[in-house]
Amino acid sequence: MKGVILAGGTGSRMMPCTKITNKHLLPVYNKPMIYYPINTLINAGIRDILIVSGPGHAGHFLNLLGSGKDFGVKLTFEIQDEAGGIAQALGLAENFADKEPVIVILGDNIFEDDIKKDVQSFKGGAKIFLKEVHDPQRFGVAELKGNKVMGIEEKPKNPKSNWAVTGLYIYDADVFNIIKTLKPSGRGELEITDVNNYYIKKSKMEAGFLKGFWSDAGTFDSLLRASQLVKEKLEKK
Ligand code: DAU
Repeated sequence: MKGVILAGGTGSRMMPCTKITNKHLLPVYNKPMIYYPINTLINAGIRDILIVSGPGHAGHFLNLLGSGKDFGVKLTFEIQDEAGGIAQALGLAENFADKEPVIVILGDNIFEDDIKKDVQSFKGGAKIFLKEVHDPQRFGVAELKGNKVMGIEEKPKNPKSNWAVTGLYIYDADVFNIIKTLKPSGRGELEITDVNNYYIKKSKMEAGFLKGFWSDAGTFDSLLRASQLVKEKLEKK
């Protein structure tokens, strides 16, 4: 399976820190943010990774990461010209995926769980990973019946559960055809939640429940929390 890290977007919630560099290059405690999703994929056994970023700071990723040799992986880079949404960014990975399934991770998501078994046992369709949170309004939120996901709402005012859809997804190669059918949402983006709801409607979606910590790092508060979590984890070692 190949891996895709989505590191485009404008970083508008983190101005002025994102004025002259990309959000995913800001530090989470002692490493640039992008190192965390790279390591999550490496720990899952992935060695072939595409990084999608915006045009403004793409060279910074190259300067930092090079070919991926230092990580023991092969890195490929792709440019998303405008921040047209997570699903649009993923659509740029079609040639890279070359009809194989892909594991996709948002560049600002920090995971503790090891998802190697989920990668190894993936048989087709799609898989999402849920985490219980106290502020579900900030995320895609799953409606659950037992362990089954009935639907997902993107940033709902009245969430149907506390289970956030984290920025980690496994898709079969159908995902690229599904993306081609999407229409922009109210915020003008091709939404990954629409992709996930498509798989749910076709009964081809599985959900995993994360045990370890998870945080996005895309706002000043969540970046601070993610840094604290990483620091605490390192101190426990
Ligand atoms: O963090 C998990 C949440 O991420 C999910 O619960 C939501 O369902 C999902 O929509 C997303 O919500 P956000 O509003 O936090 O997404 P954001 O626009 O901050 O983008 C998250 C990452 O996706 C960002 O770090 C880079 C990448 N991205 C985003 C956009 C809009 C791209 O690569 N290209 C884009 O055009």
